[in-house]
Amino acid sequence: PVTEPVTEAAKAKPTLPDAATVTAVKHWTDSLFSFRVTRPASLRFRSGEFVMIGLPGDNGKPILRAYSIASPNWDDELEFYSIKVPDGPLTSRLQHIKPGDQIILRPKPVGTLVLDALLPGKRLWFLATGTGIAPFASLMRDPETYERFEQVIMMHTCRTADELTYGAELVANLRTDPLLTEIYGDDFAKRLLYYPTTTREASPLMGRITDNIASGKVLADLGLPPINPAEDRAMICGSLAFNVDVKAVLEGLGLNEGANSDPREFVVEKAFVGDGV
Ligand code: FAD
Ligand code: A2P
Repeated sequence: PVTEPVTEAAKAKPTLPDAATVTAVKHWTDSLFSFRVTRPASLRFRSGEFVMIGLPGDNGKPILRAYSIASPNWDDELEFYSIKVPDGPLTSRLQHIKPGDQIILRPKPVGTLVLDALLPGKRLWFLATGTGIAPFASLMRDPETYERFEQVIMMHTCRTADELTYGAELVANLRTDPLLTEIYGDDFAKRLLYYPTTTREASPLMGRITDNIASGKVLADLGLPPINPAEDRAMICGSLAFNVDVKAVLEGLGLNEGANSDPREFVVEKAFVGDGV
């Protein structure tokens, strides 16, 4: 039989277009996991932005979804923090990825949660529910954040305490991070304040972000002055209902929403598109 010569290209493992290789996976709860992938050499992004990632569908058409990049822009890998939706077209499968697997990554980062979309200020508030902490996992690890702001306050709220673990570990590791402690010394712990709360399970700090800001409880607990448009900036990332309610609270305090093209006192991005939205 006549056989075609096997080319080098054909011998290589078939790769997806825009492929990235999974390097690590960690499951935090039954419904939350994080994973790391190789970073395409050409991919530049601003900490806080999101990209489209996915897997090939059964009909050959890729299933792509928006994902915040959770790693900072200096990292040579990319990290993502994901929900597992049991019947979700993407995450019902994505939750089974293992190191060595490939995912599709469209290298076009975009988003509103970037430092350039805010006016200069003294304190920067990161307000997140659930997987909405992902863009802040990037921004909290970016030294640029601390160059622009004297203090960063990470408020993260979930229903249960185990859903806070990814963020809690990240903050704990940051407080001993060699890069940031070299720049800011032991004072770094005072520059990054962390306020994790639960709403449906007892934990040391409780309550919705909206309530803890409106009542002043978070200010009293952390020893901070009232939120005001001269000094405070904020970034919001959660469900649509959460975003709408936090926006109203901040507007009530005199802060206004900005954008890349029009920097103001706060910016908002949806952590996911909910049913019917
Ligand atoms: P889908 O059909 O997309 O969603 C099914 C339903 O699950 C939705 O209608 C909604 O009710 C619920 N749902 C989807 N995502 C979430 C979530 N993250 N938290 C709670 N409920 C959810 N998801 C992440 O897990 N991590 C991210 O970093 C992330 N970043 C995003 C950034 C942007 C700008 C947007 C718009 C969405 C982001 N999402 C993120 C949501 C993501 O795009 C997908 O919706 C999610 O991966 C589920 O995909 P799916 O195909 O399994 O289910
Ligand atoms: P709660 O338990 O009081 O509803 P969800 O899983 O529904 O997206 O909620 C994630 C977290 O965000 C929960 O702690 C939830 O509190 C809180 N949350 C949901 N909706 C709002 C809202 N509109 N304003 C403030 N917090 C909210």
